[in-house]
Amino acid sequence: MLTKEQIQEILQPLTDSETGKSLVELQLIRDIMIKEDRISLSIVCLNPEEQSRMDLEQRVRELLEAGGVSNVHIRLRDATDYERAILRGESTEEVDEPGKLKGHAAGLDGHELISESSGVNFIAVASGKGGVGKSTVTVNLAVALARKGKKVGLVDADIYGFSIPDMMGIEEGPVVEEGTIIPVERFGVKVMSMGFFIRENSPVIWRGPMLGKMLRQFFNDVGWGELDYMLLDLPPGTGDVALDVHQMLPHSKEIIVTTPHATAAFVAARAGSMALQTDHEIIGVIENMAYYECTDCGKKDYIFGRGGGARLAETLHTELLAQIPLGAPDNHISEPDFSPSVYKEETPSGQLFAEIADKLIAKYEH
Ligand SMILES: Nc1ncnc2c1ncn2[C@@H]1O[C@H](COP(=O)(O)OP(=O)(O)OP(=O)(O)O)[C@@H](O)[C@H]1O
Ligand SMILES: [Mg+2]
Repeated sequence: MLTKEQIQEILQPLTDSETGKSLVELQLIRDIMIKEDRISLSIVCLNPEEQSRMDLEQRVRELLEAGGVSNVHIRLRDATDYERAILRGESTEEVDEPGKLKGHAAGLDGHELISESSGVNFIAVASGKGGVGKSTVTVNLAVALARKGKKVGLVDADIYGFSIPDMMGIEEGPVVEEGTIIPVERFGVKVMSMGFFIRENSPVIWRGPMLGKMLRQFFNDVGWGELDYMLLDLPPGTGDVALDVHQMLPHSKEIIVTTPHATAAFVAARAGSMALQTDHEIIGVIENMAYYECTDCGKKDYIFGRGGGARLAETLHTELLAQIPLGAPDNHISEPDFSPSVYKEETPSGQLFAEIADKLIAKYEH
């Protein structure tokens, strides 16, 4: 098996046609991941023309194949004007620099944010199938961490859903301050969603590559300021999009959400094994809709079955972090902090999410 350094060595001959510098040295070959005989990497393309992109991809494949690697997953993205100007040593004064954080938004810029050394704890929330409460869990965990005084960002990466703004009761969109997109803050959580950029009900067909591009922009061009945690609501399942996100954030940790039903837990195991294959640490499993508790007598009814979460945690050699009961948040549309999906702190579900937040803090902050 090759190492990352050996792959960089193999790709060393690739150069930028204008400056003659090596693409590896320019750090345009990124996110190199090696898993058994499979390699994945990202290429930042200085030339946006399709032919040039295809040629570059072809060259990478040829070089790797000559080096004995044939199973390669390549992601391409165009360099931003700013990156292009910087890399080619041009003046950047004329170039709008979206990634630069100014004023009160100053803090980490995107490249730092996404890198492991940023100290930001990335947590992706995944599920085997849709509708199990993945977004509900992401939102409430983010809010619970913020209630503990943590600086929290939340990226809605579910291209099919973008449900987060609605679920949190966000009505406004992000503003742009001096060329920097400022995320919308709600319950102390900074939120970014595709939903902000798509007109209501307009039928947009997003494809995987598009999402990858958009996500990178979310990390690079958004003024997040300082963050302790960044939560990601992933699309359900183990499709290309989820895989791309995994590869883009190699150091991200993961929480898997399932319902207690045996079949749901079985399907969720696939999402879990994908996390393991991409070397993501699985923090634990959250079983949602675990039971219904009768408000009058306190009796728990396990209407969707029982034991799915525990079994899944066992399969994935991880912990069952919590069992969240059925029950919609109790708040009313007339309240100023109305949100359809955020449980209030003092409610039983609010407390369960507070406990999960405590576990995460104990685990990742010493
Ligand atoms: N513990 C719960 N009790 C009651 N309703 C819940 C609970 N968790 C989630 N729901 C509701 O179930 C529905 C699905 O939840 P949610 O949107 O969070 O799931 P999801 O896994 O993100 O779904 P999707 O695959 O559509 O993105 C929503 O209407 C949500 O309000
Ligand atoms: Mg969702």
